[in-house]
Amino acid sequence: MSKPDVTAHSLPPRLHPLPLRIMHWINALAIFIMIGSGWKIYNDDVIFGFLHFPDWLVIGKWAQYGLQWHFFGMWIFVLNGLAYISYGIATGRFRRKLFPISVREVFATIGEALRFHLRHDDLTHYNAVQKVLYLGIMLVGILIVISGLALWKPIQFSELAGLFGSFQTIRLVHFLCMSAILAFILVHVTLALLVPQSLVAMVTGGPIVDEGQRQAAPAAPEIEATP
Ligand code: HEM
Repeated sequence: MSKPDVTAHSLPPRLHPLPLRIMHWINALAIFIMIGSGWKIYNDDVIFGFLHFPDWLVIGKWAQYGLQWHFFGMWIFVLNGLAYISYGIATGRFRRKLFPISVREVFATIGEALRFHLRHDDLTHYNAVQKVLYLGIMLVGILIVISGLALWKPIQFSELAGLFGSFQTIRLVHFLCMSAILAFILVHVTLALLVPQSLVAMVTGGPIVDEGQRQAAPAAPEIEATP
């Protein structure tokens, strides 16, 4: 007996597979909650006297509510982040899309960007600066979680907290990581809006790619459903 042709019913591989897109947008939501609620908590005991976040920008009516939102967002951010990193490693996506990185290419890409010559017409290929930014933001994500753990449970994680020095230093590291994420988002979202097809691809999956080569391939011919 011949086997059923399952390929006719399986979805063709896309540039951004569905699990990746779901995790990306969950992450964006989690970051929104974490930053808004973090600013509310910060306002209760500021690090920089000149910096208070206005009420309309923060999440949580009182600091205690801000804290609850922060813990809620934390679980989403951490579990989703672990899933994303495991997925990126297990499927080989990180190896394929983020490596190798050449220092020469990083400088060349920065030069192109400064001369407004940066092109992103091939969505299937991240340029050297994108690779550095994506890897960098993942490291910042790990550091913000570690410093957050040390702030949340300084006694249970006393050895971890000890690595930073004082409690105020941990707060500062946590704050600087938030600032780096914010700067990344400003650049990242601006670029996404400048190259709208990249934004559409992060929603729809983008072009169909060849699984073996992972290059953009012409769209597969429509397969007619047979009764
Ligand atoms: C509303 C907010 C956001 C928008 C509109 C957005 C948009 C996008 C788009 C369009 C891409 C595909 C880039 C390309 O094909 O060149 C992308 C990829 C990516 N974004 Fe975002 N993003 C947002 C928030 C974030 C946040 C908050 C983070 C992390 C802190 C993040 C991290 C990443 C990473 C790591 C990738 C690469 C994913 C991969 O290929 O594995 N994004 N984003």
